[in-house]
Amino acid sequence: MIEPAIAQCASTESPGERFARVRNWTDTLTAPLSAEDCCVQSMPDASPAKWHLGHTSWFFETFILERFEDGFRPFHDAFRVMFNSYYHAVGDRHPRPQRGMLTRPPLSFVREYRRNVDERIARLLASRGDEKGLQEDLLALLALGINHEQQHQELILTDIKHLLFMNPLKPAYHDAFSQSEQPTMPMAWHAFDGGVVSIGNSGRDFCFDNESPRHRVYLAPYRLASRLVTNREFLEFVRQGGYRDPKFWLSEGWDWVCANDLAHPHYWLEDERGWMEFSLAGLRPLDPGLPAIHLSYFEADAYARWSGARLPTEAEWEHAAAMPSSCGEFAEGKLFHPAAAKQHGLSQLFGDAWEWTQSAYAPYPGFRQPEGAIGEYNGKFMVNQYVLRGGSCATPADHARATYRNFFPAAARWQFSGIRLARDMENGTA
Ligand SMILES: [Fe+2]
Repeated sequence: MIEPAIAQCASTESPGERFARVRNWTDTLTAPLSAEDCCVQSMPDASPAKWHLGHTSWFFETFILERFEDGFRPFHDAFRVMFNSYYHAVGDRHPRPQRGMLTRPPLSFVREYRRNVDERIARLLASRGDEKGLQEDLLALLALGINHEQQHQELILTDIKHLLFMNPLKPAYHDAFSQSEQPTMPMAWHAFDGGVVSIGNSGRDFCFDNESPRHRVYLAPYRLASRLVTNREFLEFVRQGGYRDPKFWLSEGWDWVCANDLAHPHYWLEDERGWMEFSLAGLRPLDPGLPAIHLSYFEADAYARWSGARLPTEAEWEHAAAMPSSCGEFAEGKLFHPAAAKQHGLSQLFGDAWEWTQSAYAPYPGFRQPEGAIGEYNGKFMVNQYVLRGGSCATPADHARATYRNFFPAAARWQFSGIRLARDMENGTA
């Protein structure tokens, strides 16, 4: 039986208290940003912080207040379209690549929208939250909205990092940074017998629809690396010509490398000081002991092939996550950069960096898309993407769990994504 390795919210915390805490964390994350920082969109995949602030409020207004609030009236009629991300059932949407064109409304008005939604949700919970029948639906949607907000908190950080990196000043978001300081743990291999195991969420606590149902899979015996691949190890791949030799790359990945003239990870650059890495603390010397991050699936797969290993499947990863392991850095540490592996045994499964798996993002056997607009949340994206596991240095700790399935296209590398290696068992032994 695999239980979530990370505790869910403290049992003493009421839904209303959790709502307030998570919403406040979004405000904390955006506090260092200027109004100009919050407005600009650096690429179609990334959204301005102002849009994230509005969209997360829109989610609560559209899916909870519109349904449960007596005498509902939207805060602003135009926000229904402006802050709708991809919900066709809700109606029209402002084009995603044009979210950075929204110089109006001003940031102050979007923050006013957030406060208005916060007050109305608090009022709703206080007045009707304990009504029989209402409570179950309302609290389920509230939990979804809170977890949705936490997903956007991570996106706020990855999107602002992408934006700041494009600025020639290479400005810092904050002045906290991580250093490996002492030698990183040598990579060890942990053996798993495999067999018929169960993965997926049984639904006792909150989970997204894509994590269910829990089901059985067969795993051949395998080995899993004890920690994430480090900058030192990935730099060796770069220096030995890993980006120049097609034999390490998937065909589509090699086309991607050539078309974009790639030779190293996205936030690395080499100047007279040597190899540098851009972090949310600005441009700093590449720290060899820290995990290599912001890698695409193509890069992760090529590195694994070059090193004589492979990426794990998501079932292998989840099975291993039932073992005791030490966690990495989460958002609460406020570094927003992974830390070095310092513990013996399995480490960094949770936190530090999302880990690419070789598993295509597909429905589990028996998956049923929920009815209505909310059914558009996950199910319709189950094509042309790969599953990542574990959470990152930008993920809130109570948002991570063993069954969590994150997903991105193979070329995406603006997320905090790294590499954990796996190997087949040779001759049935480790
Ligand atoms: Fe969203």
